[in-house]
Amino acid sequence: MIAPTTAPARAHTPPDWWQDAVIYQVYPRSFADSDGDGCGDLAGVRSRLGYLRDLGVDALWISPFYTSPQADGGYDVADYRAVDPVYGTVGDAEALIADAHALGMRVIVDVVPNHCSDRHPWFLQALHEGAGSPLRARFHFRPGRGPGGEEPPNDWISLFGGSAWTRTTDPDGTPGEWYLHLFAPQQPDLNWDSTAVQDEFRCILRFWLDLGVDGFRIDVAHGLVKAPGLPDLGRYEQLDLLGEQLVPYFDQDGVHEIYRSWRSLLEEYPGQRIAVAEAWTRSLDRTARYVRPDELHQAFNFKFLNAPWDAARLRELIATSLEAMRAVDAPTTWTLSNHDVIRHATRYAEGDPALGLRRARAAALLMLALPGSAYLYQGEELGLPEVTDIPDEVRQDPAFHRADGGNGMRDGCRVPLPWSGTGAPYGFGPVPGGPAWLPQPPEWAGLSVEAQTGDPRSVLELYRSALRVRRTDPALGAGRSVEWLDLAPGVLAFRRDSDQGAVVCAVNTTGEPVRVPGDVLGTLLLASADEPQVAQDSGDVLLPADSAGWWRSS
Ligand code: NOJ
Ligand code: MG
Repeated sequence: MIAPTTAPARAHTPPDWWQDAVIYQVYPRSFADSDGDGCGDLAGVRSRLGYLRDLGVDALWISPFYTSPQADGGYDVADYRAVDPVYGTVGDAEALIADAHALGMRVIVDVVPNHCSDRHPWFLQALHEGAGSPLRARFHFRPGRGPGGEEPPNDWISLFGGSAWTRTTDPDGTPGEWYLHLFAPQQPDLNWDSTAVQDEFRCILRFWLDLGVDGFRIDVAHGLVKAPGLPDLGRYEQLDLLGEQLVPYFDQDGVHEIYRSWRSLLEEYPGQRIAVAEAWTRSLDRTARYVRPDELHQAFNFKFLNAPWDAARLRELIATSLEAMRAVDAPTTWTLSNHDVIRHATRYAEGDPALGLRRARAAALLMLALPGSAYLYQGEELGLPEVTDIPDEVRQDPAFHRADGGNGMRDGCRVPLPWSGTGAPYGFGPVPGGPAWLPQPPEWAGLSVEAQTGDPRSVLELYRSALRVRRTDPALGAGRSVEWLDLAPGVLAFRRDSDQGAVVCAVNTTGEPVRVPGDVLGTLLLASADEPQVAQDSGDVLLPADSAGWWRSS
């Protein structure tokens, strides 16, 4: 393993690096394109590592770059041990990991165990061998129901729309068995009762661990085990793509045995290799089960991501989250955006971009003051909004096409990043006027890294400052609890203590300035909006509308 060597010194030493790590999600198609084909690639990521180091993140999570027909942006993997030529080579991945380590950053990669691509050799062989082949036991093949087997084996619905089953054609051309795909038909679900599947994934984990990765983000971690007998749902409405409904194919107790075995595999490697679960569950208590001491290290807190911009609701949610994770002695893993959801600068105030951005800036300070780890999604540090006017003909999200546009909102958060310049692709690719796989809005010239660098009012400089303070202040980062402060209605405030002093974070989620007692706050460290004014007579502080601040308190 190549150990990180030049990590900037911290003022405090957390017990484990991941307990308070700020991890930056790279969606490689849209990050940086080194060869000008319009699609981001690993060499592009590698060329921008200095930017991420200067931003101040501890690690990167890179979404899938494996060999894939790209039916679902690479979450349809045809070869788990190879890099798709559009992204580069395994050598590029190795070089990227080595460079990131040399800059003091760790690297997490995606593992996609719930399903593979329909072009994966296992699926092709299983299709070829026909019904009754033992190779079909690696998937969920079933005869159809009804006369001639014309009806799907059960009533499950694909998360991308339509039935979760597709009928195959036998080698002699007649209609054959059906196979299960919770996502697109090009993503057949693997059967985790099969020891071949279990063994294969252990080998895949080892392949990337041996190459030096520091961990894995587990795609659809809650989906691997299906209820025995694949019972009908009994209802037919479309399920939300990332919903929390109780269904016989999500959050089954059997998944935990898999993660216990993965944990012991990770423990065999030096240097604290970790795994983070993408598990959409119905409650935080259920999420906490994924991070019990002998299971995974982290699980995204999607309830936080989905919470409305409201002080009382946020406080309740944060308190419940901390409590649920404390019960299993795990940190909470906060996130506001990823490649599947509407960017939070838009989500927090749909139809009002200025307000959305104002709240997004405040939310960043809130999240980065909370105890635990935080995941950033590329572009949030630039305040990028969701792109809502992408022409239908260039959209690539399979959910858009399968659900007749109803559920396909994901291209709008995947638009390539603006780095520099005044014309598309804004430094995303090497050639001015060159291609980008999705069109970038012209206003993004003003949001580029170049345009924001050095502007103290920019979102980018706010993130840089916040990460700098967080990295050096022992009161921020790791922890299991906060001390809540009741300052005023509509204000969420808490204090975090350390032996070297305390930090107070206060967030005004209302649309009006709110007056709060200044002696509770202390000296301002950082503010998401205009500097809060201090009243000369009383010392009260006026928190601007929809804003947050950090104060050094005694
Ligand atoms: C969750 C991933 O984040 C999403 O992008 C993908 O479409 C599904 N899992 C299926 O792999
Ligand atoms: Mg490229």
